[in-house]
Amino acid sequence: MTYFPEDFLWGASTAAHQIEGNNLNSDWWARESVMPGMELSGDADDSYHRYAEDIALLAGAGLNAYRFGIEWARIEPRQGHFSRAELAHYRRMIDACLAERVTPVVTLNHFSLPLWFATEGGWSSPHAVERFAAYVEKVTDILDGVEWVVTINEPNMMAMITMMTEAMRSGQASEWQSPTVEGESDRNRIAAALPVPTVEYARPMIAAHHAARDIVRARTGAKVGWSIANGAFYADPEHAEKLAEVRYAYEDIYLEASHGDDFVGVQSYSTQRVDDNGLVPHPEHPDNTMVGTAYRPDSLAVAVRHAAAVAGAPVLITENGIATSDDDRRIAFTSEALAHLGGAIEDGVDVRGYLHWSLLDNYEWGHWGPTFGLIAVDRETFVRAPKPSLAWLGDVAQSNGAGTLRTDEVQI
Ligand code: FCB
Repeated sequence: MTYFPEDFLWGASTAAHQIEGNNLNSDWWARESVMPGMELSGDADDSYHRYAEDIALLAGAGLNAYRFGIEWARIEPRQGHFSRAELAHYRRMIDACLAERVTPVVTLNHFSLPLWFATEGGWSSPHAVERFAAYVEKVTDILDGVEWVVTINEPNMMAMITMMTEAMRSGQASEWQSPTVEGESDRNRIAAALPVPTVEYARPMIAAHHAARDIVRARTGAKVGWSIANGAFYADPEHAEKLAEVRYAYEDIYLEASHGDDFVGVQSYSTQRVDDNGLVPHPEHPDNTMVGTAYRPDSLAVAVRHAAAVAGAPVLITENGIATSDDDRRIAFTSEALAHLGGAIEDGVDVRGYLHWSLLDNYEWGHWGPTFGLIAVDRETFVRAPKPSLAWLGDVAQSNGAGTLRTDEVQI
């Protein structure tokens, strides 16, 4: 018995900067070189050269979709100068997927920006929309056969990255903290100090997303949407007002901007409590993940239901996973997440696919410690070592989720 539609996408996700290596013309490369507390991405997983092996491992395990990023900083290393060789590189990646019967899900921007664009002000630049549109137009030349395009990854997390960068510059924060690593971090302190921090950052990204959507629709046959970090926010009843305020600023403003998209990308890892001071850091707990978040596999279905209701669009799960060094725990987490997802689908939510974060252990935006991968990578030799979870997820895919637990069998 399966709740997953017949042509469901089962796959894994990555982001260019986190796996490719030597993203020399990007703002992240520059940031890593100067910010205290950051490790360097360096050669990363050298997936820039080893993508064919990565796609073959994914396909060989039985998965049918691969989400990866096209790196703007490579395509347009100088404003207005577009590299034909780099465009050809990403076309080869698309072809490698198609040859393996893997559906490519292409992200046009995943946090990293060309350094020249960041210097100009990045998403706050008055030219942001026109710059992004020019890049997107070039990329559409290589998207033949691509059915799924994500314009901007997690604009809401991107707003946090911009805030964090500004806080470091102004001296409000002293040590870089990855936006995806929680705990008693600068991120939480800054978020608490600025109750509704993201709206001013949201507007240009929304405009850029809509411009990109129009271009992708006019020039390709792909479905287009963007992917949102879904917090699965909750609060005690007395904090309901603050919850609504926080949820709007961190999430719903972006989900509402998905109206009219072909899908909304849901990215869920845990839940997030809110009180009158804003986000409440996850309390210390032995079950917490390597990035300090609570172990909440049920958060995926909470996020999916909320995103579908607010965005009014079909859902593609573009990220869900767990930072753990214990692969049995990854399997348990994912199995339970999928069980709850099956429940949402059974209730009528239109979900088109599940892409696990991440295919590879990778560079977690400042830190190498947290491991989210279905495949381990030796950072000296770049040798790939698939973990049991890769074969497990491949088997789930092959049975179209028939083996996953039912919600009512799951202990919450
Ligand atoms: C998401 C990012 C992704 C990765 C995961 C753990 O916020 O989109 O690149 O860092 O978190």
